[in-house]
Amino acid sequence: MSPDRPQAHESNPGQAGEGPLVARVDLSQLVANMHCLRRAAPGLGMLAVVKADAYGHGAIPVARALIAAGAEGLCVATLAEALELRRHGLQAPILVFGDRRPESVPVAAAQGIDLGVVSAEHLRHLLPLVVQHPVGLHLKLDTGMGNSGFQVGELGAAMELLQALRPHLRGVMGHYSDAEAPDGRIAANQRQTFQAGLARLREAGLAPPMVHHANSAGCLRGFTEGDTHVRCGIGLYGLLDIPQAAPAGLRPILELSAEVTRAVRVPAGTPVGYGSTWVAPHPMTLATLACGYADGFSRALSNRAWAGFEGGSYPLVGTVSMDVVVAVLPEDSPIRAGDRMTLLSRHPQDPNSVLQTARLLGTIGYEVTCALHRRVIRQYF
Ligand SMILES: Cc1ncc(COP(=O)(O)O)c(C=O)c1O
Repeated sequence: MSPDRPQAHESNPGQAGEGPLVARVDLSQLVANMHCLRRAAPGLGMLAVVKADAYGHGAIPVARALIAAGAEGLCVATLAEALELRRHGLQAPILVFGDRRPESVPVAAAQGIDLGVVSAEHLRHLLPLVVQHPVGLHLKLDTGMGNSGFQVGELGAAMELLQALRPHLRGVMGHYSDAEAPDGRIAANQRQTFQAGLARLREAGLAPPMVHHANSAGCLRGFTEGDTHVRCGIGLYGLLDIPQAAPAGLRPILELSAEVTRAVRVPAGTPVGYGSTWVAPHPMTLATLACGYADGFSRALSNRAWAGFEGGSYPLVGTVSMDVVVAVLPEDSPIRAGDRMTLLSRHPQDPNSVLQTARLLGTIGYEVTCALHRRVIRQYF
């Protein structure tokens, strides 16, 4: 794990310098967030979920920083994501949640990458392959997500196969569907189902060393009894949307800022953007920003969102274009072409924080940062 050092780093060296649109990611706060989550789960290993390019934050620098700070492993959704980590020198344990393709087994085995077992059918297909290509397996129990894993009732019929794969069974996992809910009722039901599944396996003499059910919300709320590891994603990125998150010390780590490409005074009646959905009611100053829906800044934010500058918030007006959006500035604004305005703020109370933006869009923070396109330059500090 020694080569996996965090570095000040740009993900897109072809576009050096500040760049028109930059997502700045605070790797020290990322690591601080991991420590906050660890405090809620003392003694448990941390499997850092870095799928989907670390929820848009950049998988390689994020994974390097977390592994260098002691994370026990990494989780991704696809084998391609795991191979990308290996290509960049990350030697840490990696678990792929959901790759059931037979051709993935030899590759995963050769690269020391573990695979989640997502169904009884998957298990059947794995047996002959795993004998030839030994790979670590994490048996997934469907404890209430209803979309992946074994039903506890299916385990009996699968026991013979599971016994045959025993040397390869490295973990048993489940996944909370609603660990955020204040009453914790669904999580408690899922926990019971998980314990029943574990008991079933243990009665049959199967006791894989790793047991992990909790995501960030489950981790922070202590829904981890009997587990050996947690699998945290959103909490690492400081975007866990539950009341316990801020007091625990979790803080957002990403800020998106765009260059002002034009700041101009316009007369009353000036329309802005496709469809002229906004028209200046009186003479106004407009700032054009180099960010649009192709960057992942949703068109559904048209006429609804805010840009920040030195503590102030300025409304975005007109339809968000593919590469451009426009903010209205006060008459005496000092903002000029070349200045930068914030489109996603790191401060949760700002109207353009990631979580406020998600609320405007009727979605969750995960989707807002996952949407950030590759052409958005990531900078790390
Ligand atoms: C199987 C699995 N485990 C853990 C996580 C991490 O969840 P969170 O980002 O809510 O911490 C995810 C994320 O979707 C997941 O799919």
